Amino acid sequence: ARPDALPRDLEGVRVVVSAGGTREPLDPVRYLGNRSSGKQGYALARVAAQRGADVTLVAAHTVALPDPAGAVVRHVSTAEELRQAVHAASEAADVVVMAAAVADFRPANRAEHKIKKSDDQPDPVITLDRNADILAELVRNRRPGQVVVGFAAETGDEQGSVLDHARVKLKRKGADLLVVNAVGDGKAFGTEDNSGWLLGSDGTEIAIPLGAKAELASTLWDAVVRFMKR
Ligand code: CTP
Ligand code: CA
Repeated sequence: ARPDALPRDLEGVRVVVSAGGTREPLDPVRYLGNRSSGKQGYALARVAAQRGADVTLVAAHTVALPDPAGAVVRHVSTAEELRQAVHAASEAADVVVMAAAVADFRPANRAEHKIKKSDDQPDPVITLDRNADILAELVRNRRPGQVVVGFAAETGDEQGSVLDHARVKLKRKGADLLVVNAVGDGKAFGTEDNSGWLLGSDGTEIAIPLGAKAELASTLWDAVVRFMKR
């Protein structure tokens, strides 16, 4: 939709969106990262601003996306930096959307100097520590009326379909809304389109047909507006 065709139904609503992929340093030149492009989170921030929201975008690494117009952008790198920035911005927020791909683990040790290979030393082994689950913390610390939205990328497997996994994850995470993207076979990561499901803690399940990431953003903000009106 053209920006001037969008409703102004988020006027005065304070929104925090996290986007992109975190990087966990191993040494000064290397990191553990992921394939998140940041495009879905940026589309969410852009559409929310176009609908009148006060938007803070906490942006981890992306494929060189320009800052969305009208949003305050905080650039971060590691999961811990993203955590601090999201919690700081969320204190006054009405809605928090965790679209970022947050590293579940970080290297237990960050070498001060570049790790060198050596013929007299055994090859290094990387030990990982668990990062905090930011979405779970947001759900635990949720203010009355604050809407918390999670994202998940799932593939179907022997245990169940994308939707089966999504229902379990929504329950486990305790979020109000969960957007589930179907991934695999070149779907979702880095592409312009997304498809999947939008699940609500009230039992609503909306299928999201394959479409532009801005379309998914509109579908999510429609659901958030309905959620705030309950
Ligand atoms: N998330 C988070 N903090 C983490 C990991 C994930 O806030 N340390 C958020 C993501 O931003 C996303 C949601 O949790 O909104 C679901 O992420 P996902 O990786 O699908 O869930 P996990 O609980 O990490 O489960 P899995 O073992 O399947 O990765
Ligand atoms: Ca994870």
